[in-house]
Amino acid sequence: MTQDQLKQAVAQAAVDYIVPQLTKQSIIGVGTGSTANFFIDLLAHHKMDFDGAVASSEASAERLKGHGIQVYDLNWVGELEYYVDGADETNGRLELIKGGGAALTREKIVAAVARTFICIADESKLVERLGEFPLPVEVIPMARSYVARELVKLGGDPVYREGVVTDNGNVILDVYNLEIGHAQDLEENINNIVGVVTNGLFAARPADVLLLGTPEGVKTLAR
Ligand code: A5P
Repeated sequence: MTQDQLKQAVAQAAVDYIVPQLTKQSIIGVGTGSTANFFIDLLAHHKMDFDGAVASSEASAERLKGHGIQVYDLNWVGELEYYVDGADETNGRLELIKGGGAALTREKIVAAVARTFICIADESKLVERLGEFPLPVEVIPMARSYVARELVKLGGDPVYREGVVTDNGNVILDVYNLEIGHAQDLEENINNIVGVVTNGLFAARPADVLLLGTPEGVKTLAR
């Protein structure tokens, strides 16, 4: 199976997971990236079964709207049962690295609101230890050099993702070679650097369910 076929299979598994639980009032949190795009396209077949969605990026909002799915501002939404999104890396504890698509801050916000965060990923994303994928950090533009120096003190090698501006008007530093021992501590330490909006470690709020695409079928891991 190709990687795209694995992504499509986990996207379908997420649809199968949530659709039986939906009501006409349900609003679904929807993530960003190629796996989330498969999810959006498959979810659209069921758009009569729920009210609408909250999107973690402008790109996903546009894709949802293109399918005729109502997109809500998170501030107008009280309850969010599910958030479905991909990841760049996951470990067996369902701690994640996200932000390869630069949407990490909105992704973290929607994940925080949702009662159940379902991560959908092909098996290449499952790692023993997080950190092979460079950790994205969203930074207020004027703090870029300062934050980079602070990240070096934490043992990382930050690289400015040139030409990328996030949906929030900020920049991204991709941090290579970080030793990610205790992910939640590192997440907190990086977020404490002045000028950092957030970083792509999802350890304080990991996924609740991981649907992992393998050639043998979709595996379900839960915390
Ligand atoms: C977006 O900022 C990311 O967090 C994505 O969720 C992540 O990069 C996964 O993307 P793919 O599904 O395209 O691999």
